Amino acid sequence: MSTFRSFARRALTFGLLAGLANCAPGLVAPRSTGLGGIAPFPIGVSVYGPTLKNNPRYREAILRDFNSVTAEVEMKMGALKPVSATEYNWEDADYLVKFAKDNRMRVHGHTLIWHVVQPRWLETLPNDSATWEAVMRDHIQTTIRHFKGDVHAWDVVNEAYETSGELSNTMWRKHLGPGYVARAFRYARAADPKAKLFYNDFDLEGGPNKLNAVLVRLDELKAQGVPIDGVGLQMHSSLTTHTPSVIDALEKLAARGYLIHISEMDVAVNLYNLPTTRVLTPQLLADQKQKYKEIVAAYLKIPRLQQYGITMWGVHDGQTWLRENRPEWPLLLDDDFKYKPAYEGFVEALRGK
Ligand code: G3I
Repeated sequence: MSTFRSFARRALTFGLLAGLANCAPGLVAPRSTGLGGIAPFPIGVSVYGPTLKNNPRYREAILRDFNSVTAEVEMKMGALKPVSATEYNWEDADYLVKFAKDNRMRVHGHTLIWHVVQPRWLETLPNDSATWEAVMRDHIQTTIRHFKGDVHAWDVVNEAYETSGELSNTMWRKHLGPGYVARAFRYARAADPKAKLFYNDFDLEGGPNKLNAVLVRLDELKAQGVPIDGVGLQMHSSLTTHTPSVIDALEKLAARGYLIHISEMDVAVNLYNLPTTRVLTPQLLADQKQKYKEIVAAYLKIPRLQQYGITMWGVHDGQTWLRENRPEWPLLLDDDFKYKPAYEGFVEALRGK
């Protein structure tokens, strides 16, 4: 029996048993509780190392429903190189990769070049472009080579463009000029010719402005022969996300032949922190279920070979990044790791209901 088939059977069996014990009251446990076992494409989840090490229910939930992992923090420059441009700390990322390998899960590499939460030593680098170019090149190639064979795809550049399509004036742009995006992808390709290379961004699914503007930039890069294999739609969405805009983004990316990764999915229910939404209600849960169902159904319509997968940005509501500044319940499992109506909506979309 093929590895994947035996894994899927194991996940399904494990998922069925675990899922029945794990379903919120009133929710009928979906026949297959393992999303990763029933979806025709990988179902990923962002994982935070310390919780993975210390919380058995977190690990169980990951193994039950997911077959791909993305490091929420551990593969970013600040985590890999907190001290200097040359001192790498692979331990935390290697732990996550080992967990994935031990459980036959895919690892999606996130992210090589970004401008948020960067290590302090970057601020003390000499101002010359040759130094910055070496830092970018060495980081990309050393990181990809370290994980070669275990990480088959990377978010090479994350969130580089404004809504206008202008290249954001980040530290990378300031020190390396507008051509840094193209060079980042070329360095990545040179480091691992087999790896799939993604451009990852938010709000491309939020309407035509940013989407069309960024598509112009990506078309320009592709015309120069820049090796961009796929695009990550982060899909940090909400109840007000306009599903036709999601469909428009999926269609336009699919038409260009990209692998399409819904890379950081969540559906916020309290986006504006209003009195009517800062307390979770059955109506908010029902609306969230519908939004998940619509987005997953839209994703299923793109060509199967371009379905790189859907990655949830968090295992359960208790871990969501969105709670940094408001009450929020954006994910498929609740604080107690129990399935929410959103999970059922995801499954219903997968089953074509
Ligand atoms: O682990 C430390 C902990 O020891 C410490 O006590 C605590 C307070 O300082 O910080 C903890 O690390 C934080 C880490 O999340 C884990 O919670 C970092 O400070 C914090 O910067 C980090 O934030 C992450 C952020 O990216 C920056 O890396 C978020 O979890 C993560 O969800 C967010 O994810 C990004 C994607 O990479 C790109 N797209 C947007 C998305 C949301 O911002």
